[in-house]
Amino acid sequence: MKPGNSLMRHYLQFKDLRAEEYAYLFDRASIIKRRFKNYEKYQPLADRTLAMIFEKASTRTRVSFEAGMYQMGGSVVHLTTGDSQLGRAEPIEDSARVISRMVDVVMIRTFEQTKIERFAAHSRVPVINGLTNEYHPCQILADLFTFIEQRGMDRRGAIDMDCLKGRVVAWVGDGNNMANTWLQAAEILGFTVHVSTPSGYEIDAKVAGIQDTRCYKVFKDPKEACRGADLVTTDVWTSMGYEAENEARRAAFANWCVDAEMMAQAKPDALFMHCLPAHRGEEVSADVIDGPQSVVWDEAENRMHVQKALMEYLLLGRIG
Ligand code: CP
Ligand code: NVA
Repeated sequence: MKPGNSLMRHYLQFKDLRAEEYAYLFDRASIIKRRFKNYEKYQPLADRTLAMIFEKASTRTRVSFEAGMYQMGGSVVHLTTGDSQLGRAEPIEDSARVISRMVDVVMIRTFEQTKIERFAAHSRVPVINGLTNEYHPCQILADLFTFIEQRGMDRRGAIDMDCLKGRVVAWVGDGNNMANTWLQAAEILGFTVHVSTPSGYEIDAKVAGIQDTRCYKVFKDPKEACRGADLVTTDVWTSMGYEAENEARRAAFANWCVDAEMMAQAKPDALFMHCLPAHRGEEVSADVIDGPQSVVWDEAENRMHVQKALMEYLLLGRIG
């Protein structure tokens, strides 16, 4: 594909897809997951290659994309800043021109969103955001699929997207890439995010990239944010790239630990999610993350199923 090809789609932010495309993707993820669980071979991406570029560490993103691509019959090239010319100041535009002539899809984990946008602008193939300072759309894709599995899927795997409508998601912690992406999802899919962050770490609606600020409400007290919530979710106090602020953040976030008392404010059947990696005793207590309301292991596994559906969609369009 040539750069600027109007048929080519990137996935750089959650809002790059529409609500009805999400309905399609969740449906496909459910089918793809069922096939995987039944050991059915499904290789629609035979002979296709995924390049994965990591400028930050990863466990889940790497394993889910790499295993997912192999399972779909394709292959993977793994690049990091340290072992490629990216770390030696080759312009991102040149890297995009070169890499995208040799592979079919690119996944990038990097720092500023502008970096992945510059790469995408010069890429001949679809580019997927595997996390930037501002957004983590693949994670929210998995989180929403996990919620739907729990609350909006029948025994045959049929999806009810309406199960998201009017729901309350409590975000407790940093106004970071995950929080921004939850806000985009709320605006598109019709739920509300109750956000509680320490002062100085608030959400910025402009950075979050939302138009309608009614999709979230701000609470000073994290317990208030959790009241009546259908889902409580949090993330590390210090995201990758912000390590120099670690000590200041530890002090500022001390009251933003999701513990049993905080979970008790939410609905009795509320779910707990965390994108992982987690720090027990910091942003979440061990009894919550390892307790009965936690769905964190499904969340992690679902990264692979939803990303397989996403790659299939970006490369092959709608199936059937
Ligand atoms: N949640 C997530 O993206 O995990 P990794 O940093 O391990 O990829
Ligand atoms: N907000 C975290 C998510 C890690 C998956 C970070 O950016 O480091």
